[in-house]
Amino acid sequence: MRRTPMKLAGAAGLAALVALTLGSGPRRGDTDLRVCADPYNLPFSNDRGEGFENKIAQLVASDLNAAVINYWWPERRGFLRNTILGGFCDVLINVPVGFDPVATTKPYYRSTYYLVYRADRGLTLRSLDDTLLKHLKIGVNMIGYDYTQTPPAHALSARGILGLVGFGNFLNADPHADHPQDIIEAVAKDSINVAVVWGPKAGYWVKRQSVALTLVPLPDSDVVSGLPFAFSMAMGVRHRDKELKAQLDSVIDRRRSDILGILRDYNVPMLELHSAAPHAVPAPAARDSLLVSDSIYQGWKWWHVYCFRCHGEDAMNPILPTAPDLRWVLSAAGQAFPRDSFEYTAWNGRPEKGMPAWKVLLDTSAIKEIYLYAKARSDGWLKPGRPHRESDLKKSQ
Ligand code: HEC
Repeated sequence: MRRTPMKLAGAAGLAALVALTLGSGPRRGDTDLRVCADPYNLPFSNDRGEGFENKIAQLVASDLNAAVINYWWPERRGFLRNTILGGFCDVLINVPVGFDPVATTKPYYRSTYYLVYRADRGLTLRSLDDTLLKHLKIGVNMIGYDYTQTPPAHALSARGILGLVGFGNFLNADPHADHPQDIIEAVAKDSINVAVVWGPKAGYWVKRQSVALTLVPLPDSDVVSGLPFAFSMAMGVRHRDKELKAQLDSVIDRRRSDILGILRDYNVPMLELHSAAPHAVPAPAARDSLLVSDSIYQGWKWWHVYCFRCHGEDAMNPILPTAPDLRWVLSAAGQAFPRDSFEYTAWNGRPEKGMPAWKVLLDTSAIKEIYLYAKARSDGWLKPGRPHRESDLKKSQ
């Protein structure tokens, strides 16, 4: 059975009261801080409690007079559904502010992506615009929380730099299928020339290599693609768990310097937290062509969970050779596939031809949303990449 959202302060307060009436000293509150964590993803977390998320969780729990109960699940496909959204645990320690499947607390640190390369290879890279990058072998982590590429990978393709070497495999449920340090070790071993890596991961693993590696920070946001590179990081709870969120917010205020101390121990490179805009505001021109309705935004999300692995990321460059480019399927100059045929095919599939029937996993409204997304891509006004919702922009203004 699923537990009701805990009321930490209430329960802890009650425990204190009970302790008082029994005349014993302070005792642990009979409440748990149920944390969702990856068993094998240093420097973030591991099942031996060695990551900074593990340490921060301990700190938060001790502040709230609670005990940490970890729920281990690799950050792979289905992570959210199988952890916090499924009610198996209540807190994500490290998510970007505004990450909308959950409600996020106030941020406690901010970092950005870094270029990482060997200090002894005579390179001086300053930004993604360095023309030298066109001639180098570049590694990126393929999949973020939203099952999409990282912003720098998009920013590189917006500059015509393709053929990136991908690290990580979010489709493989085995947490040990690859190692979080692989991308940095590949640089150290010269199997790639440069890696583009999220700050906390870069800072931690760079220190653990036997050769010196150079770290170059990417700017807050990218002028070419309009995507943010820097993110303010917070804790996440289910949207309805407002009380827990308020408690975490107050712990973050009370224990801010302890939390920053933990992050420094892990060599996490940090930027100053902006108090105002939680997201970098993209350049207006780039922003407009990614500005979409909530339905198209949902469609984009569904697409990048269910459709992209055959029909291609951003609804282009199909990965399965027999899967058509749906931009062409929907365009007047192509197959001019009408809306109802699209929805019918998506719903029923053509199993004998390798197109699955999605009625098992999706409902009709999800399929309509996917249609709207694919149509927007087919009509061409929606650029590749992560779209923004009107509602998100309003929130951040
Ligand atoms: C496992 C691979 C795979 C996945 C995942 C997949 N498709 Fe397909 N899809 C195909 C193949 C293969 C075809 C071509 C079938 C054929 O030859 O008739 C196809 C065809 C289609 C067509 C018909 C296009 C035409 O011209 O006839 C539509 C519409 C479609 N897919 C939508 C989707 C949507 C929407 C999703 C995600 C919810 C999706 N597909 C996910 C493999 C896939």
